[in-house]
Amino acid sequence: MAKVTAAAHPNIAFIKYWGRVDPELNLAANPSLSMNLGALTTVTTVEFCADQSVDVVIIDNEPATGQALARVVAHLDRTRALGAIQHRAHVVSRNGFPAGTGLASSAAGFAALSLAATRAAGLNLDEAALSRLARMASGSACRSVPAGFCLWEGDSHESSFARQVAPPDHWDLRDVVAVVSYKHKAVGSYDGHKWAPTSPLYAARVAAVPALLDAVQKGIQERCLDTMGPAAETDALAMHAVMMTSQPGLLYWAAATVTVLQAVRAWRAEGLRIYFTMDAGPNVHCLCDPLEASEVERRLRDLEGVLDVLSSGPGGGVRLVEDHLF
Ligand code: DP6
Repeated sequence: MAKVTAAAHPNIAFIKYWGRVDPELNLAANPSLSMNLGALTTVTTVEFCADQSVDVVIIDNEPATGQALARVVAHLDRTRALGAIQHRAHVVSRNGFPAGTGLASSAAGFAALSLAATRAAGLNLDEAALSRLARMASGSACRSVPAGFCLWEGDSHESSFARQVAPPDHWDLRDVVAVVSYKHKAVGSYDGHKWAPTSPLYAARVAAVPALLDAVQKGIQERCLDTMGPAAETDALAMHAVMMTSQPGLLYWAAATVTVLQAVRAWRAEGLRIYFTMDAGPNVHCLCDPLEASEVERRLRDLEGVLDVLSSGPGGGVRLVEDHLF
């Protein structure tokens, strides 16, 4: 059978997915909206082999084990069921950025796996079907399937997938990421989504999403950071408030996280146009104009506890590439 390789970018959500109404199907409690990060790429090669008795999965040069392996095998099983094939697979995946730091490596990984595995199984899914399939493996992965700025909404298996709201060249928004930790997070978002409804703040955050989503969509349409930024900051803080107050509670922040959040607000008060958001990790994503990105990067590097700074503009969707990893 064919060997197929796909590349995908992680995405940063301006309105977050945090909490599921259906854990089997990964149906989200609220719509979310993100931008693919073109500077960060995950590449995945898949081949279904007649002579293998188990799936072999290598991620960043290490054999996958435990929950990581189980999630990939479950996704290969979904693909095998769709393609009516029995063969086990050889999967090799490489992240061009640190995994497990809130840089959403599972989104890029499962978007790339969805395209590579379905093509390797002889299937040719359209974008909505591919996004729907990626969602079953990891919710945020459905938003790495289309290109650019993507909205994931829908409350049934059929209607729940991501679609593009603006292409990557619509707005050269920059995400300058202050990396304050490279440690693999202790609790992944899989459990976090499950615990979210135990927070007394959960229902209030979900209820606040429609108005914040409107502001973010308007800001993207009008390429206006001052319209989308405040809404993105509010939703990121609301999500972390839910995380912190769920049972068990999740405190992803490091001391340097707070340093960066305070600095962003102080710089904004001085006139720099910059807003923050965060995922399920301690790193801080700073949203700014490309003209101010190098100044933001320079200032972030000077802050105590900032280990590295990554910068990215909007990226394309999942796609096939020629160079196989094995
Ligand atoms: C904080 O998509 O990683 O990044 O469906 O369990 O794989 P699973 O969760 P995942 O959750 C993403 C959480 C987030 C917010 C977001 O990207 O919307």
